[in-house]
Amino acid sequence: MEFSIKSGNPEKQRKDCVVVGVYEARKLSEAAASLDRVSDGYLSTILRGGDIDGKVGSILLLHGVPGVAAERVLLVGLGKERELNERSYRQAVRASIKALAGLSSGDVATFIAEVVVQKQDVSWRVSQLVEVAVDSVYRFDRFKSKPADSKKGIAKLQVHVSQRADVAAGEVGLKQGQALASGVSFTKDLGNLAPNYCTPTYLAEQAKALGKSHGLQVEVLEQGDIEKLGMGSFLGVAQGSVQPPKLIVLHHKKGKKNQKPVVLVGKGITFDTGGISLKPGADMDEMKYDMCGAASVLGTFKAIAELGLPLNVVGIIPTCENMPDANAMRPGDILTSMSGQTIEVLNTDAEGRLILCDALTYAERFEPQAVVDIATLTGACVIALGHHASGLFSNKDSLAQELLQAGTAAQDRAWHMPLWDDYQGQLDSNFADMGNIGGRAGGSITAACFLSRFAKKYDWAHLDIAGTAWKSGKEKGATGRPVPLLTEFLKQRVGK
Ligand code: BES
Ligand code: MN
Ligand code: ZN
Repeated sequence: MEFSIKSGNPEKQRKDCVVVGVYEARKLSEAAASLDRVSDGYLSTILRGGDIDGKVGSILLLHGVPGVAAERVLLVGLGKERELNERSYRQAVRASIKALAGLSSGDVATFIAEVVVQKQDVSWRVSQLVEVAVDSVYRFDRFKSKPADSKKGIAKLQVHVSQRADVAAGEVGLKQGQALASGVSFTKDLGNLAPNYCTPTYLAEQAKALGKSHGLQVEVLEQGDIEKLGMGSFLGVAQGSVQPPKLIVLHHKKGKKNQKPVVLVGKGITFDTGGISLKPGADMDEMKYDMCGAASVLGTFKAIAELGLPLNVVGIIPTCENMPDANAMRPGDILTSMSGQTIEVLNTDAEGRLILCDALTYAERFEPQAVVDIATLTGACVIALGHHASGLFSNKDSLAQELLQAGTAAQDRAWHMPLWDDYQGQLDSNFADMGNIGGRAGGSITAACFLSRFAKKYDWAHLDIAGTAWKSGKEKGATGRPVPLLTEFLKQRVGK
C-alpha cells in the first residue's frame, strides 16, 4: 500500500473510493457534511433511512453519489462524537480498510484522519492510521501455492488532513507510521514462518541481512563462542537439538559516542516442545511463536533504523530449539550459568528463563542505561492478563512507568505486575542456588523473580508477551507486539 498526505475537498477527489466518517445518532463528520451539501442531501436521506447509524466500525458503501467525483463513497461509523478515543478511532480505521480490501478499489482517499480524537494530534492520527491499515491487510501467504487476487485491495491510500497547515504534521505521522508498520510486519513474518524454516541459523541470517540493509552492526556468536563465555544455562537448553544455538548481537549506534545504550534482550526459542518435560500435543504448533521476543527485538531495530533514531541501542538474542533428545537435559540436571549461579532444572519446559539469564549477564558488558527483555515466558501470564496486556515487571519503578506510558501512547499496553521478594522463596532448591520453577502459584511472577537474579547490576524490566505476541484460532497469526511499545519507549529515551 502506497501512502500520501493531502489536504483537499472530499467531493473533488477522482478516486475509486472516498472514505468519510459518520457519528452515532446519524451525525455527519465535516467531510461527510461536505459530500452531503454537493449531493443535495443524498447522505442525510440515506442516514434517515437507517442503513447506518454511526456505531463504531459500522460501514455502508454507496455508488454514484451525485456531485461527487469519486466512484464510491464509503461511510464509516465513528461512534459518539464526544466519546471518540484512541480505541474507537483505530476500530473505525480497521473497519474501513477491511471493507475496501475485498473490493476492486485500488485508489482511495480517506478523510477519517480529520476527526478529533481525545488528547491526540494530527501526526498521531496519521501514524496510527498507517499502522492499523498495514496491519489490517497483512497476510502471510508465502506458502500458498496459488497467489491471492491481485486486482483486489487498496494500492494507493491518500490520507487527508483538515487544512494545509496540517500537512507537515501529517507527513511526520506518515513517516513514523510507516517505519513502525515495517518493523511490525517484519516481526509478524518471522513469527509466522514455519519452525522448520525459522531456525536459530535463519534468525541469525535475517539479523545479518537487516544489518546490511539498515546500517546496523551485527555479530553472531556460535556454539564455540557461547561455550567460551561459560553460558552453561543457555547451552543446557540447546543441547537437545540438532540445530546449533546462536547468540545474535545487534548495534544501532546513532547516539552520542559516550552515551550508554539501551539494551533489548529477546527470547528466541524457535520451537518449544517442552523438552523431556514434553508439552501436551494440543496446539503445540503455536510454540513456533516462542521466538516472538527475538522477532520483536529485530522488528524494533528495523523501525528505529528507518526512523534514524538518535540513540545507542544494543540487541541481544539467545536463540535455540527446545527439543527432547538422547542428549537433552533432564529434570534434576544442574546447570552453571555464566554468572556462576547454579540452577537445578526441575522442569525442562521452563527453558526461556534458562537462555535469558545468560543473555542478561552478557548485557552487563555494555554498561547499559537500561535493559528490557521481551519473552513469551509463561502460560501463567496469559491466565493473569489474557490477550490484551503484556505483563511488565521491573526492578526500577521509573523505568516501569516509562514502559507503561509508552504502551498507552502506542496502544500496545502492558500491566505492571509485582516483583516482591516475598515470591523469591518459591525458587529455593536443596541442591543448587535455585530451581528453575516456582510452582503453580504466581507462575509469571516467579519466572520474573528468576530473571531478576541475573539483572541486579542495572535498571531492568521484563515484558512477558505470552498472551499478546500472537492470536490463536481462526485469526491465528503473530501480532507484531510489542514493537509499537518498544519503539515508542526508545523514542522517549532520546535525549535522556
Ligand atoms: N513458551 C512457554 C510459555 C507459553 C506457554 C507461552 C503457552 C504461551 C503459551 C514457556 O517456555 C513454558 O513452557 N513455560 C512453562 C513454565 C512452567 C513449566 C513453569 C509454562 O508456562 O507452562
Ligand atoms: Mn517451555
Ligand atoms: Zn518457551
